[in-house]
Amino acid sequence: MIIRSAEFIKSSTKLSQCPDPIKPEFAFIGRSNVGKSSLINLLVGKKSLAKISSKPGKTQTINHFLVNDAWYLVDLPGYGFASVSQATRAAWTKMMEQYFLKRENLECVFVLIDVRIEPQASDLDFIQWLGENNIPMTLVFTKSDKPGKNQVAQSISRYKKKLNERWDELPTMIISSAETKKGREEILEIIQQATS
Ligand code: GTP
Ligand code: MG
Repeated sequence: MIIRSAEFIKSSTKLSQCPDPIKPEFAFIGRSNVGKSSLINLLVGKKSLAKISSKPGKTQTINHFLVNDAWYLVDLPGYGFASVSQATRAAWTKMMEQYFLKRENLECVFVLIDVRIEPQASDLDFIQWLGENNIPMTLVFTKSDKPGKNQVAQSISRYKKKLNERWDELPTMIISSAETKKGREEILEIIQQATS
């Protein structure tokens, strides 16, 4: 797919502030620092459209980016960051539940997972919750430029094993890297199919 334009539309702190749900959208979620904002920049081919930081917790709001005047990419705040207060965590959960359960133009949620780390309860629980609520998802294993090939394969099979314990059917899985651009075409292909 060719990206002709990509622009920041707005940041929202709740569902009611989000743009009118008249164009399909694709959301990016995962633990803080997993690379959500970097992946959005990779997809649109702009280095700093979504704000990136080496410090976890950079993205705090629901951020809409309009691509090709036709669909939205949505950058979301991460979960599972240890040093966050109870109150902040509760606010995050409320904002995200509203968004995921009620956003009517949501076509697919890309759940990002750092390919280097063991399956985490926060990721497995979140995937479980999406599944139980019938929200379409694709898993994206990020930062694949860091470990060796074997380690990437091992990590993914570990995930499959974990998910197979609870599910008969597994979501599509993609390996990505914002450094090598791996996974970009595959993700754009999913978006293309959902929007054409
Ligand atoms: P929050 O907004 O804090 O939840 O984080 P995020 O998931 O949006 O992560 P972000 O894109 O800000 O990236 C976090 C850090 O990881 C930054 O230092 C990025 O440069 C780095 N990073 C992101 N993707 C990759 C990748 O594919 N490979 C490598 N090596 N580093 C990456
Ligand atoms: Mg971010």
